[in-house]
Amino acid sequence: MSDVITKAQVITWLENCAALLETQKAYLTELDAAIGDGDHGLNMARGFGKVKEKLPSMADASIGSILNTSGMALISSVGGASGPLYGTFFMRASTAVQARQELEPMDLVKLMEQGIEGVVQRGRAEVGEKTMLDALIPALNALKSQLEAGAGLSDALDACVAAAEAGVRSTIPLVAKKGRASYLGERSVGHQDPGATSATLILGLLRDVVKGSGVS
Ligand SMILES: Nc1ncnc2c1ncn2[C@@H]1O[C@H](COP(=O)(O)OP(=O)(O)O)[C@@H](O)[C@H]1O
Ligand SMILES: [Mg+2]
Repeated sequence: MSDVITKAQVITWLENCAALLETQKAYLTELDAAIGDGDHGLNMARGFGKVKEKLPSMADASIGSILNTSGMALISSVGGASGPLYGTFFMRASTAVQARQELEPMDLVKLMEQGIEGVVQRGRAEVGEKTMLDALIPALNALKSQLEAGAGLSDALDACVAAAEAGVRSTIPLVAKKGRASYLGERSVGHQDPGATSATLILGLLRDVVKGSGVS
């Protein structure tokens, strides 16, 4: 494995997201039924289904343009909170990489930093409020600290995904402070956050594709 992420890998990753979110639709929807309105799986599957439809026309586009188009597809096809938030993540992430045809490891850090900044600006949530940020922010921190300590991309992505998985588990005892789950207050305790779960699935697929174990 070389320490770059190619455009072909980015496209495969997004295709795999569409496929996995389709198969995990019922699971994510079940998580959302416990503390929300039971549509997170449907939202993610529909949104990434639209992203997948755009990919064939993007073969000659830059990575930034692919991410931007994906973000716009998510925003325009998903009505729930997650559509605008994930859409903003991808659109803001695109500004970090722009016309690039491949990404260095630290580009991935910049991409995630920008994407997360967009989610924070749009949703005004912080770590500990039982949202997707409880997976995304520890994942970014682990990726960045591993790379800065000299780890290769593969090991850094393993640490990134492990941190996201720990982040998802950390949402279970939390009281939701943002989004629909916050209407439940204390009754949201004991349930895993759907958005943190989908974010972790998406990061896991990135790791698999970069390590060459993802379906192409
Ligand atoms: N303000 C916010 N900031 C970050 N993530 C949020 C915010 N509000 C909700 N979310 C995420 O969105 C997920 C719910 O998505 P979804 O069910 O698709 O939308 P909706 O809540 O509109 O039905 C939550 O599990 C949470 O992770
Ligand atoms: Mg919902």
